[in-house]
Order: sequence, then structure tokens, then C-alpha cells
Amino acid sequence: MTGKTLIIGACGQIGTELTLTLRNELGNENVIASDIREGKDELKASGPFEHLDARDYKAIEDILIHYDVEEVYLMAAMLSATAEEHPMRGWNLNMDALFNVLNLAREGKIKKLFWPSSIAVFGPSTPKENTPQTTVMEPTTVYGISKQTGERWCAYYHKRYGIDVRSVRYPGLISYKTPPGGGTTDYAVEIFYEALKSGKYTCFLKENEGLPMMFMEDAIRATINLMTTPAENLSIHSSYNLAGISFTPKELAAAIKREIPGFEITYDPDFRQDIAETWPSDIDDSQARADWNWKPEFNLQKMTDTMLNGIRGTLN
Ligand SMILES: NC(=O)c1ccc[n+]([C@@H]2O[C@H](COP(=O)([O-])OP(=O)(O)OC[C@H]3O[C@@H](n4cnc5c(N)ncnc54)[C@H](O)[C@@H]3O)[C@@H](O)[C@H]2O)c1
Repeated sequence: MTGKTLIIGACGQIGTELTLTLRNELGNENVIASDIREGKDELKASGPFEHLDARDYKAIEDILIHYDVEEVYLMAAMLSATAEEHPMRGWNLNMDALFNVLNLAREGKIKKLFWPSSIAVFGPSTPKENTPQTTVMEPTTVYGISKQTGERWCAYYHKRYGIDVRSVRYPGLISYKTPPGGGTTDYAVEIFYEALKSGKYTCFLKENEGLPMMFMEDAIRATINLMTTPAENLSIHSSYNLAGISFTPKELAAAIKREIPGFEITYDPDFRQDIAETWPSDIDDSQARADWNWKPEFNLQKMTDTMLNGIRGTLN
């Protein structure tokens, strides 16, 4: 590989693990991490790091040229719960950042682009069970509207300008290496920390609110698999449905109790429950399985054990 890879929003929940995995696979110097935040030590120590605002077209262009970048992963965004508190800021960031990289690709300055969508593209009128790839999408959050719009623009740039842009609709992602960034599924990370620290957790969703989730290792593998699949195998140019594990807070609490018998969960739903109610409970990802052999490796118990062991390691 001659050209390099740029991650925009590398300090976030996904960006951090994605950067470290890609550096492992491609070589540290070939993967440039960037973020609007002060860089994390582990990202700065293991390879190039640039301070970069995803809304600044010229600044992105300068980095692309300086490093001879070919592939870009755009991870900078405002997530669902935070964007409900700042709707216009969320919309502007999510759309401006995407248009910047799409237009840089159109100018021939990016060869291949990854941009993540989300299960938030779905809404209350979408079938909740086994949600199909192509279905009714009437999102009710500003985040979901920005992701649905983004998907349409990705498909448009592919069709009209031949841009190689690839995308998955991530479910809620679970990891212990970097804290989540303000999403509706963050409870499924917080619960593990509280289980280990205090033995109890108050959940901001109702006990039976089932949502699609995925362990981070699976999400990173899916992302890299999709990006390394030959373009001619891909049939979806908006965003692929992607599924891992679906569970309710009650089911997750039961899995944790098997390891920490005294663990107690209580429920105090807030505005995030209203968002969660509009999303599917599980996703049909047969198109991703057919086109690029997608298959998750983590089930609920394996994810629970990995989270508890991983967090124990960071608390010691
Ligand atoms: N984590 C999930 O569960 C999940 C689920 C579905 C989709 N996604 C999508 O995946 C992508 C990454 O999500 P994440 O969970 O890592 O988010 P995150 O909030 O943890 O990280 C986003 C990163 O972007 C950076 N950022 C914010 N504004 C920026 C700007 N103007 N310029 C440069 N960097 C900026 C932040 O500092 C942060 O480090 C987002 O597009 C998100 O919508 C995430």
C-alpha cells in the first residue's frame, strides 16, 4: 500500500480502537490519527497525530496532501443523546464533516472513504423485529435525520461521481477501552463499571427495552472487512445493516449477575427511553453477510465476560 490512512475523530469510542488496530495491520506511520480534542497519549505515542477540525475543508485537504493519504475514516460526529440537546450544532457538524470528505473525494484527493451510519436512521414506523435493509425510515431524532440524509448523499456521490464510499449502520457499541460519547445505548457500558465499583446500577432505559448492540472488536472487524472487500462485491452504497447481539437491560443485568451475584439494577427512564422506543430491537444483516461474509463473534455471555475482565484490568 502506498497511500496512507487518515482517521478523523480518532479519540472517540470507535476511533481509538480503530486507529490502534489499523496501525497494527498497516504500520504505525501509515495511519494518521486526528481529532479536535487534545490527542490521547496512546494515539500520540504510537504514530502521527494531528489536531484537526472536521468542519475545516482546507485543514483536511492540507493533511491529505502532506501525508499522501488515500483512505479516510470519518468518525467525528455528534451522537444521538447529545444532539437532542444541541440540534443545530449536531446537524451542522454531522453534515459539514461528511460533505467535506465527499467533496475532497470528488476532487480525487481521497480514494476510499468510510463513513458510519447508525440504527438511528430507523424510526417508530420501521418494523421493529428483524428490521430489513430496505424499509420505512422516518427517524425522529436530529442525529437519525443527519444519518439518513448522510446515507442518501453517500449513495448519490457513488452513483453520480463514482466515489468509493462505504458505510455500516452500527448498532450500540460496547467497549471498555474508551468511554462512549453521548449515545442512547451508553447504559450498556456504564452498567459494567457500576457493577464492579458499587454492585448496583440505575438504568436510564426501561427493563424490557431491547436494542441492537455489538462488542467493539466485532465492530472494528466489520469496518475493516467492509473496507477491504473488492468494490465489485458491494451492492449497497448507502449503508449496510449490521447486527451483533440484541438484548434488554434486564437480560444484560442477568448476564452480569451470573458473574457478580449481588448485582442490583433499578430503572429510572429519562429522555433516552423516548429515543430508544423509536429504534429497532434487532436487525436483519443478511446483505452484509452475503456481500462481505459478515459474521459476529461475540454473544451476550462472551461480551459480558470480556467487559468484566477488561474493566477489572483497568481498575487494578
Ligand atoms: N458508538 C456507537 O455506539 C455508535 C453507534 C452508531 C454509530 N456511531 C457513529 O460512529 C462514529 C464514531 O462514533 P463514536 O462512538 O466513536 O463517537 P465519539 O463521540 O466517542 O467520538 C467522536 C470523536 O469525534 C471528535 N470530534 C467531535 N467534533 C469534531 C470535529 N469538529 N472535528 C474533529 N473531531 C471531532 C470527538 O472529539 C471524539 O473524539 C460517529 O459517526 C457515530 O455517529 C457510533
